[in-house]
Amino acid sequence: MARLSAANEQRARALVALYPRPRSALMPVLHLAQEQDGWLTPEAMEHAAELLDLTPAEVYGTASFYDMFFTEPVGRHLVSVCTNIACLLAGGAELLEHAESALGVKAGGTTADGQLTLEEVECIALCDRAPAVAVNWRYFGPLTPGGFDTLCEDLRAGRLADTVPPHGTLCRVRRAVGLPAGVAPEGRPVGDEAPGPALAERRAAKAADLQHPAGADGAPGSGRAQAPGGEP
Ligand code: FES
Repeated sequence: MARLSAANEQRARALVALYPRPRSALMPVLHLAQEQDGWLTPEAMEHAAELLDLTPAEVYGTASFYDMFFTEPVGRHLVSVCTNIACLLAGGAELLEHAESALGVKAGGTTADGQLTLEEVECIALCDRAPAVAVNWRYFGPLTPGGFDTLCEDLRAGRLADTVPPHGTLCRVRRAVGLPAGVAPEGRPVGDEAPGPALAERRAAKAADLQHPAGADGAPGSGRAQAPGGEP
């Protein structure tokens, strides 16, 4: 795979439309490209640059800065073993040692069948289930060495296909809510519509606060509008 597929280009354009400037959509578009191929191919980064009005070098500069983006191929499953403090105390280092031995690769390596890339990571926010492992950013824990072996067998056999997406995918880059930047629900440019009562009230309160700022005791400014019921 090289450039974004037609479907993903359409998704990328929809993401770009959510922001005032195309370049602001760089991170979600990179996640989209990574979701497609598992890593950021040079062709996909060039395509992203075209869509975002950036140079390929600017895209690569961002992609190579963040640990969660891969500019080289990774296995179908990215197995991330946490060795941060909670996991360390619960056996995370020993689990990583076992993983390296069981998979036959050091952290950072990919198994010969291309199925599993092993990496050592900092806290993945699953401290209450330490020692914890993430696979393509889906979480498992606490894991014993035996549990780790079972997990890898299940991944290789496709038994977890329903819950673990292929590649090192952070998440589905889809927005169920939100509006294209600068467009109101009815398609009018934002700012053209008359403010509703609530918005007008908030604007009036803000203007009053600016004219009569809060006193030294922290009391609201005398000009602050009062909402129904007397709450400030
Ligand atoms: S320290 Fe491992 S998940 Fe937080």
